[in-house]
Parts: sequence; C-alpha cells; structure tokens
Amino acid sequence: MKISVIGAGNVGALSAMRMAELKLGDIVLVDIAKGVAQGKSLDLEDTRSILKADYDIKGCEDINSIEDSGVVVITAGLARKPGMTREELLTKNSSILKDVCLNIRKLAPEAIVVVVTNPLDLMTYLALKVTGFSKNRIIGMGVSLDASRFANLISQELKLNPTDVTPVVIGAHGQGMIPLARHTRVKGESLEKILNKEKIDSLLKRTIERGAEIVSCLGSGSAFFAPSAAVAEVVKAIAKDEKKVLGACVYLTGEYGIKDICIGVPVCLGKNGVEDIIKLELSDGEKKELMDSADSIQNLLRQFSF
Ligand code: APR
Repeated sequence: MKISVIGAGNVGALSAMRMAELKLGDIVLVDIAKGVAQGKSLDLEDTRSILKADYDIKGCEDINSIEDSGVVVITAGLARKPGMTREELLTKNSSILKDVCLNIRKLAPEAIVVVVTNPLDLMTYLALKVTGFSKNRIIGMGVSLDASRFANLISQELKLNPTDVTPVVIGAHGQGMIPLARHTRVKGESLEKILNKEKIDSLLKRTIERGAEIVSCLGSGSAFFAPSAAVAEVVKAIAKDEKKVLGACVYLTGEYGIKDICIGVPVCLGKNGVEDIIKLELSDGEKKELMDSADSIQNLLRQFSF
C-alpha cells in the first residue's frame, strides 16, 4: 500500500519513520518547505543498512507524488507555541488543510485520510467536508494519544507497567478531552475501584495539561514522539486490517446523541477505515461531559462557519 504523509516536520517525519520501520507500505513524504521532505527521506533511506531493514521511502515538495495513495496522513500546519491554544491555530491551519484536502480529493480519491493537524476535531470535520469522502474514510488521531498519556500517568502513580493499563478517553482532543476513569482498566479492574476520587482527579488534570506541559518544556513546537506512535498505530490497524478498537475522532450521525460534528469516541479500525463506532455505556455525568465537549466543538464550527 502507498502511504503518503503531508508535512515532514516533527510529527510527519517521525510518523514516516515508524511506519517505514513497521513495513506498513511504501512511504511518500511531502512538505512545502524546499528540500525538507527529500532530505529527511534520504536520511531515512541511509538508516536501512544499519537496521537491516528494507523499506521504501521517498520525499519531495510535489503534492502530485501522493497520487493513488491508499492512506494519506495530514500533519501539515503550524505546531502550537507556548501559551497558544489549539483553537488559535485554527485560522492558519484551516487554510492549509483546505488546500491539502482539495489535492487529496483530486489525486488520491480512494484514500483513507488520517488527520493529525490541530485543532484536531475541527480539522477532521473540515477534511470530511472538503474531500467529500465517506465518513468511514476520515479519521482524526487525537484521543488515542490522550489515552496513552493517561495510561502513562496512571502506571507511574501505581508503579506498574503502562501495558497493565487499558485507558479510555473520549471527547475533543485537548482541553475538552474526557478521560473515563470508570471505563479505564488496570489489570482488568476499573480505575475507580483502585484509586480514590482525589487521586483520580489529579491524574485527569495532569493528563489534560500534558500537551501544554510538553509545549512549555520544549519552548518551541509541540510533542512528536507519542503523537507519531499514535499515527503509526492508526495506520497499522488500517494497513493490516486489524479490526482494532481505538479512540479516534470521527463523524457522528446520532451516535451518543451527537450529530454533524467530528469528536473522539472508541471505534473499530480496519481496511475500510472506521469499520464500527463502539457505543460505550455512559453514566449521566459522563454523558453530560461528552455533550459539553461536543457543544464546544459545535460552537467553534459555527463561529468559523465551516
Ligand atoms: N503542504 C505541505 N506541508 C506543509 C504545508 C503544506 N501546505 N504547510 C505547512 N507544511 C509543513 C511545514 O513546512 C512543516 O514542515 O508542515 C510541517 C509541520 O511541521 P512542524 O512545524 O514540525 O509541526 P509538527 O510538530 O510536526 O506538528 C504538525 O500536528 O500535532 C499536530 O499541533 C500539531 O498541527 C500540528 C501538526
């Protein structure tokens, strides 16, 4: 399968590297900045002999090189700066995304699109509208990253391996995320049965702030190691038809009582993209949190009249 990554910055280049090393397909890296995608792809080619790996990767500025891709990952755009919210990125990134999506529609009409550019829920919706692709072929990578952050912090608190934690996060990616303690399992037990409310609240708060914490440490740019791992996880589920259940930002048409927005919920991913939307049983409080998160996305969509 041909997998194109648009945007060869931190997240795009690392995603390309991870997908190449996992041998998910032939990778094409594209960036508007002269020489960047080509330089990084040459560097990744040179790695093959050391890794004893035989992957295929090309890079250039020409968007036409994404022609007939099976999967296109969009990381093009600006990264968040310290103090900047994801929403502030909206104006700039939406114009980049529109341009990119028109090219995807023309050049790779059968592709499954994985959106990474922030603000994620709005960019995913924009990608759906601009490409006109069916809803199963537009997937935003966001809450699976939030879930990985939640699992990491839980595992540190409990001095366990992160793989002992099965986290569940839904809602908007970023400040509107909803880490679900009741549905999150630690060695099969609900987190709510393992930690008291005060400890859980502190973990939830730290998870929600994690992206901003990383941005403020870095000084410029935002996280890329975990985001690129989350991208590769989504593309692997598609390329290998894993039918894997993961949190992802998808278009809802009444599921959870929500319609006509893209928001993070658990989905089953396979060769057709979103194969199913999983309906979690939510308490009244959890439902209200999800509706509030959906309302905040809806308000932004109205404000920017997508
Ligand atoms: N076409 C192709 N590439 C583009 C375009 C475009 N129209 N516009 C910008 N780019 C490229 C930039 O040249 C840059 O190399 O997108 C790249 C973005 O890379 P970084 O600035 O390193 O940002 P990164 O950390 O990779 O984040 C990208 O993912 O997680 C989100 O919030 C993050 O929206 C941001 C995106």
